[in-house]
Amino acid sequence: MSVPDLSLETTVGPLTLKNPFLLASGPPTASGEQIRRAFRLGWAGAVTKTIVPDAMEIQDVSPRFAAWKDESSGLLGFENIELLSRKDESYWSGEIAAIRREYPDRVLVASIMASPDPEEWQEFACTVQDAGADAIELNVSCPHGMPERGVGAAIGQHADLVREVTRAVRKVAAVPLIVKLTPNVTDIMPVAAAAVDAGADILSAINTVQCLMGIDLDTLEPRPSVAGASTYGGYSGPAVKPIGLKVISQIARELPVPLMGIGGISRWQDAAEYIAAGASAVQVCTAVMWEGAGIVREMDRGLSGYLAEKQFAGVGALRGRALPRIGTHASLSRSIYRFAAVGFPERCISCGRCVKACRDGGYHAVSIVDQRVAIERDRCDGCSLCSHVCPEGVIVMLPGL
Ligand SMILES: Cc1cc2nc3c(=O)[nH]c(=O)nc-3n(C[C@H](O)[C@H](O)[C@H](O)COP(=O)(O)O)c2cc1C
Repeated sequence: MSVPDLSLETTVGPLTLKNPFLLASGPPTASGEQIRRAFRLGWAGAVTKTIVPDAMEIQDVSPRFAAWKDESSGLLGFENIELLSRKDESYWSGEIAAIRREYPDRVLVASIMASPDPEEWQEFACTVQDAGADAIELNVSCPHGMPERGVGAAIGQHADLVREVTRAVRKVAAVPLIVKLTPNVTDIMPVAAAAVDAGADILSAINTVQCLMGIDLDTLEPRPSVAGASTYGGYSGPAVKPIGLKVISQIARELPVPLMGIGGISRWQDAAEYIAAGASAVQVCTAVMWEGAGIVREMDRGLSGYLAEKQFAGVGALRGRALPRIGTHASLSRSIYRFAAVGFPERCISCGRCVKACRDGGYHAVSIVDQRVAIERDRCDGCSLCSHVCPEGVIVMLPGL
């Protein structure tokens, strides 16, 4: 496929990016070498693995990951209980300065966290800013390990604490300030509003979703098992995309603030959905861990092709285009009804999944007649369950009265 001649340049508040793709803070940005390689591959920006002051001890456990996969080892969801960067302040100051010099057309964001004392955040923000970071992202959203120490999501779950830390850093930050939000809250809006009120230029969301991946039924050890025990971790990868999309679209509908979408992005389509939901750029972590940083090439090519095909002049033209279609439940149409119909009868393999689903989870409208699915229109309630359980795409939803 030839690459259409369409610029993917996008602006996110005060930042300009050559395309909307950044590496999110995490293992893919754990070293300067990885960030350099990603820039060579085409990523427009990178957020460093969260850097902490030397006084804050970071000791990881092993193993610290668990994965939920489909039958062909494709990733569905990923859990980590990893902490923050174990590289010290002088390493990062040197690397930030060097990468800045080597890649002046890319955006290097320093992700930081400090002790619960806002003054320490302020001091540390100066350290990464002096090193040359183009922007600072405040990690007030890590859901494991750090909250036990009064930081990470322990800050991000309270609007007043987010306001305090953001305001303290804003006082000294001359570069754009990003606040990274946690989805582990009842309502994201008070926290998002507090960050903006305190001076954030950009919000990024989501950090990982708190989870427990599973329990080994032979040993009864929770996963990931660290010498037989575990803790609640952070969920990421494809399974969390719907949560990220919800958070981004909700903020975009209610607050005029530039957004970076994060969570379960692995293909250009995921990125395009986040942009249509209101994001100006996206960050990617788990997909790079699973498939390598080279995925940016296909993301770039695919997004360009899509924008050209749909005649959007660029990323900005797609931004937020789905938002007018997201509203309250009461606002949804009751006048248009759809019913299930056998769209492709030749594909039916008589597996009976639709029959069981509709009998025990629906309206008893589906049966198998002469080895082919049959749907009783009068019984069908239009819920669409049968069309989702069908593995062959036999059933379609048609408009009715
Ligand atoms: C192993 C791992 C380590 C992470 N470390 C950090 C971190 O140091 N700082 C941070 O802000 N987010 C961290 N994250 C969260 C990611 O930046 C991202 O918000 C989240 O994983 C959702 O995006 P994804 O589905 O593309 O991975 C980490 C994620 C993973 C999987």
